[in-house]
Amino acid sequence: MQVIIRPTTESAVALTAKLITDAVNENPGIVLGLATGRTMEAVYADIVKAYKNKEVDFSACKSFNLDEYIGLAGDDKNSYRYYMNYHLFDKINIKKQNTYLPNGLAADEKEESARYEWAIKAAGGVDIQLLGIGEDGHIGFNEPLSSLASRTRAKALTPETYQQNSPLFDNPEDMPKRAFTMGVGTILDAKRVIMLVTGAKKADIVAKAVEGPVTSMISASALQLHRNAIVIVDEAAAAKLQGKEYYNWIFDNEPEWEAYRNI
Ligand code: GLP
Repeated sequence: MQVIIRPTTESAVALTAKLITDAVNENPGIVLGLATGRTMEAVYADIVKAYKNKEVDFSACKSFNLDEYIGLAGDDKNSYRYYMNYHLFDKINIKKQNTYLPNGLAADEKEESARYEWAIKAAGGVDIQLLGIGEDGHIGFNEPLSSLASRTRAKALTPETYQQNSPLFDNPEDMPKRAFTMGVGTILDAKRVIMLVTGAKKADIVAKAVEGPVTSMISASALQLHRNAIVIVDEAAAAKLQGKEYYNWIFDNEPEWEAYRNI
């Protein structure tokens, strides 16, 4: 795992977006794993900007999102399908039929979960998976105690997640209490993983996930088992990390980061 600390939220976001667009340019048929949440809005805005500046072409890409609320249709303003269309897909040239999210209205949850796993496999697997982190340490909607080997399935959300996400609904009580989510095992199968964490509110949980023990109580800690995981944090989110000096040293000295130091 590598941890990269950027001085501001904007530079952490810009670095994340640049890693994604560079990966698309290197491999135009790339399979992207995408995330939702407030943190990602700025990343998608940067990606859209790069697309408008003709710096990147998404016409051959595929994407798979991490999760979707159960019970919400794709045209519901609060569904993750709507979020993705609004923030990204409608603003770039990715083909809509190549963008996948679980179907929140699927009648058979087990079948939908298996179908989603199959679709990821049929596409050749996720090349680069973007992640945020919930305040309880979830990635996707893998709430505490999610098996580190879990696959896509329906999951009950915690009261903490409900509290964190329900303000995004016009009527907070409309927030579903369950969601489909890729499993921790599904996420670990991605060839590369980038987790972006910003803001002081996430400082505790990101320090636990990165420097604490691997535990199903904090599903993001499973990234320690991944061979190509990058965690990008801004100064505020980095506040509780013990190894800051070393992480900065790596970013300042490793050749792989040379092209990214001025972002
Ligand atoms: C939701 C999503 C997660 C995301 C989390 C953090 O719970 N399922 O994938 O990481 O929100 O969201 P925010 O960026 O709004 O803090």
